[in-house]
Amino acid sequence: MTERQHSTGVAVAQEDEGTPIVVAEDVRHSFGSGPQTVHALRGVSFEVRRGELTALRGRSGSGKTTLLNLLGGLDTPTGGRITLDGTDLASLDEAGLLALRRDRIGFVFQSFGLIPVLTAAENVGVPMRLRRVPAGEREERARTLLALVGLADHADQRPGELSGGQQQRVAVARALANDPALIIADEPTGQLDLETGRSIMELLRAVVRGKGVTILVATHDPNLIELADRVVELRDGRIVDQGAGAGTP
Ligand SMILES: Nc1ncnc2c1ncn2[C@@H]1O[C@H](COP(=O)(O)OP(=O)(O)OP(=O)(O)O)[C@@H](O)[C@H]1O
Ligand SMILES: [Mg+2]
Repeated sequence: MTERQHSTGVAVAQEDEGTPIVVAEDVRHSFGSGPQTVHALRGVSFEVRRGELTALRGRSGSGKTTLLNLLGGLDTPTGGRITLDGTDLASLDEAGLLALRRDRIGFVFQSFGLIPVLTAAENVGVPMRLRRVPAGEREERARTLLALVGLADHADQRPGELSGGQQQRVAVARALANDPALIIADEPTGQLDLETGRSIMELLRAVVRGKGVTILVATHDPNLIELADRVVELRDGRIVDQGAGAGTP
């Protein structure tokens, strides 16, 4: 039995692949109160399986970002239950959620979210800094990850000196920094042209295949859906479809 040692010391057996890493049960979320209440999620149940690329689709306002924020522990649901890697998120306090986000989840956003004054390598090093990884080790791992995303020659450039597609590659490398179990990406290609967007999706696809990382990506770009193993569709805060995508090996 081959095992991969996670940064948190939890060993995950390869045969766990295909078992759920995220389980959402009847998740509800509302914003505001009284007549102003917006019911963003109206009872969402689904699973994200380990080692898969799952696409979350749905038109603007359907609840994608709300759901990703809840699954990533950035917000607490009004109702229902979310389990991540066997941990019920409701059982964690603020510090516990912080540690979970730092150690187990990598985030990729539409707007890249890089720190302008830091080089690409330093940006990739930020999550490792939070875990107090020594500078030398940080630097070495950052360069390895930048090579993985095709940016070996751009490690010392700042975000302003990189194209949008290159910046998003840096963000993907940064999401991988702490060897997460799950990467959550919210419309990672939303600010990129079609071709560049596709290359980012192909990079995520390669990360799933090569590193066994699980990725959940929200997108309403139909051209990108086909690279997913599984597609989950949200409409008005409810799941309407869960099917296999075309990216299944
Ligand atoms: N902080 C908030 N306060 C009030 N309403 C909100 C808030 N965040 C989201 N909503 C509402 O919740 C619903 C779902 O929004 P959400 O951002 O999750 O949609 P989305 O699917 O991510 O859309 P998009 O594709 O445009 O990013 C929308 O009606 C939105 O207006
Ligand atoms: Mg959104």
